[in-house]
Amino acid sequence: MPIPFNKPYLTGRETACLERAFANLQFSGDGPFTHECARLIERVLECRRVLLTTSCTHALEMAALLLEIKPGDEIIAPSFTFVSTVNAFALRGARPVFIDVRPDTLNFDEKQFASLITPRTRAAVAMHYAGVGCELDAILEIAGKHGVEVIEDNAHGFSGGYRGRPLGTFGALGTLSFHETKNFSCGEGGALLVNRPDLAARAEIIREKGTNRSRFFRGEVDKYTWVDLGSSYVLGDILAAFLLAQLEQLENIQARRRAVWDYYHAALSPLAKQHGFGVPFVPAHCEQAYHMFYLVTRSLAERTALIQHLRTKAIHAVFHYVPLHLSEMGARFGGRPGQCPVTEDISERLVRLPFYNVLTRSEQDRVIDEVTAFYAR
Ligand SMILES: Cc1ncc(COP(=O)(O)O)c(C=O)c1O
Repeated sequence: MPIPFNKPYLTGRETACLERAFANLQFSGDGPFTHECARLIERVLECRRVLLTTSCTHALEMAALLLEIKPGDEIIAPSFTFVSTVNAFALRGARPVFIDVRPDTLNFDEKQFASLITPRTRAAVAMHYAGVGCELDAILEIAGKHGVEVIEDNAHGFSGGYRGRPLGTFGALGTLSFHETKNFSCGEGGALLVNRPDLAARAEIIREKGTNRSRFFRGEVDKYTWVDLGSSYVLGDILAAFLLAQLEQLENIQARRRAVWDYYHAALSPLAKQHGFGVPFVPAHCEQAYHMFYLVTRSLAERTALIQHLRTKAIHAVFHYVPLHLSEMGARFGGRPGQCPVTEDISERLVRLPFYNVLTRSEQDRVIDEVTAFYAR
């Protein structure tokens, strides 16, 4: 039986939630399920304001609109990330300045941060890779000193923490993803975490096509109208119903994922030591979100051969990210080889192993046995 890289998970509660949503006869957004999900996330993260969105990409676009990012501004973001981390700001005309990642956690390298700040720098995007927190103490201190806003792209890290506080709640704004590949999913979805209270009112407006419709629905104004820029970022209530069925199982899902991660880690760490490849590093002060498990091979050739070996055994392992500074768009912003050496190196050597909630012990044993067999050759 093939072992896929990812397998979507059903908690078993989705159908009941969807039936309730159908009975409600409210399919558009900000219905009962959207509210229930948002309040649940606010409780879990102890976050002031959570707005469910159609995706994490859209939550990042909202962040750029909220912070009034404009042409001529610079934003500092990792090159080793998904395109939306940067594209959302480039859409508003900002120039991305790519920062390299730390070789241990593969996160935003806070030691390089200050040297990249210029008078044009408006914001920095900290992406918590694999749900392991960036060095937020240092990042926030440097940003604060220079008047730079911090946005946390926490697509990987819902329910992870840094020094005991939930990821996504440190910067002015944080974002979450509920894409099918994430720990909690509704197919496509996301959330904006509004940590700075002064941004909350405009966040609602931007999310509602630039209108004050949310105030109208609360009875605060007698009609709604166009008051600012915005777009259509509200998650529909049907998807929110599906999402609620997943979020209500937060502890179960995280326990499953933790068991999968711990098993890989225990089995593969000795082999990694023996053969000189890498396994994820989680600093003691980071409570990780168990989003993925990866290996860092010794070379590109070794990675290609490992993925190929696993494929012949019907095991689907994948790599990412192609460095953004070396992409076609990155080059247009001045990206060049050698600019982010750790990113360039890691992106050629990292391989992600199958990782999903219902990955069984016997499937994991097969993956581990085949990685072992590959290195025994
Ligand atoms: C780091 C990061 N940011 C943003 C996104 C975009 O998320 P979405 O698919 O919800 O737009 C992803 C998606 O994989 C991601 O990995």
